[in-house]
Amino acid sequence: MLKVRQVSKVYEGKVSYRALSDINLIVEDNEFVGIMGPSGSGKTTLLNMIATIDEPTTGEILINGKDPHRLKKEKLAQFRRRELGFVFQDFNLLHTLTVEENMVLPLTLDGKKVSEMKEKAKNIAAKLGITEIMNKRTYEISGGQAQRAAVARAMIHTPKLLLADEPTGNLDSKSSKDVMEMLESINEKEKTTMLLVTHDPQAASYCNRVVFIRDGKFYSEIHRGDNRQAFFQKIIDTLSLMGGDSNDFSSVRV
Ligand SMILES: Nc1ncnc2c1ncn2[C@@H]1O[C@H](COP(=O)(O)OP(=O)(O)O)[C@@H](O)[C@H]1O
Ligand SMILES: [Mg+2]
Repeated sequence: MLKVRQVSKVYEGKVSYRALSDINLIVEDNEFVGIMGPSGSGKTTLLNMIATIDEPTTGEILINGKDPHRLKKEKLAQFRRRELGFVFQDFNLLHTLTVEENMVLPLTLDGKKVSEMKEKAKNIAAKLGITEIMNKRTYEISGGQAQRAAVARAMIHTPKLLLADEPTGNLDSKSSKDVMEMLESINEKEKTTMLLVTHDPQAASYCNRVVFIRDGKFYSEIHRGDNRQAFFQKIIDTLSLMGGDSNDFSSVRV
């Protein structure tokens, strides 16, 4: 599904800064992979390059065998819309619109008919359990509901790969759990491949595998197996071995 080969990223500026060095990562179809590491370790940089929002300085990223970075602007926009879904920490919903209107926004870009869009939104909302908030405006719903709406919007095109950057970063523990359970169920039922950047060990424990990076370099990876609680403990142990800033542990919830 996804191949990251020898990818490095150097941000040019007055002082150039090497954010990632020689990252290799293979994600299989239907895998749910977490990426963890201290603040500033390069997680968002990596995700943005996979999301085609940013380009690697060296190395190659293949999604389903194709290198989207080689596509022309319009084809790239189409590729992004059709093959990828995005979820961010701050939800990125438009506040003047209802949840339903936010959900169908990506479809309006493809010039779909209103009836077709409504039908699709209704089906996804039912599957994801957010039917009751479809007609609410975003300021009328909780953070957890807003993030679930954002996940629903990301799923409207049935992307093959869903990329999430700290989706639970602004949520309390109950809402985080709801969002993670939603992602887990999408991964299982829709077979969507997922990549989750998080510094929350509880959220990461929903993944099949967690890859740790430190200072822009691969550090280690661990696999879940059948026991989520044991995996959670392994994640905490790895994080504490790896070190990091205090902020990374402020969200530890047992
Ligand atoms: N656009 C940019 N220009 C220069 N440096 C950047 C830019 N974006 C991120 N960085 C730097 O790259 C490093 C990795 O950042 P980031 O990928 O956001 O880390 P993380 O998501 O793990 O906290 C940080 O030191 C950050 O300051
Ligand atoms: Mg980040």
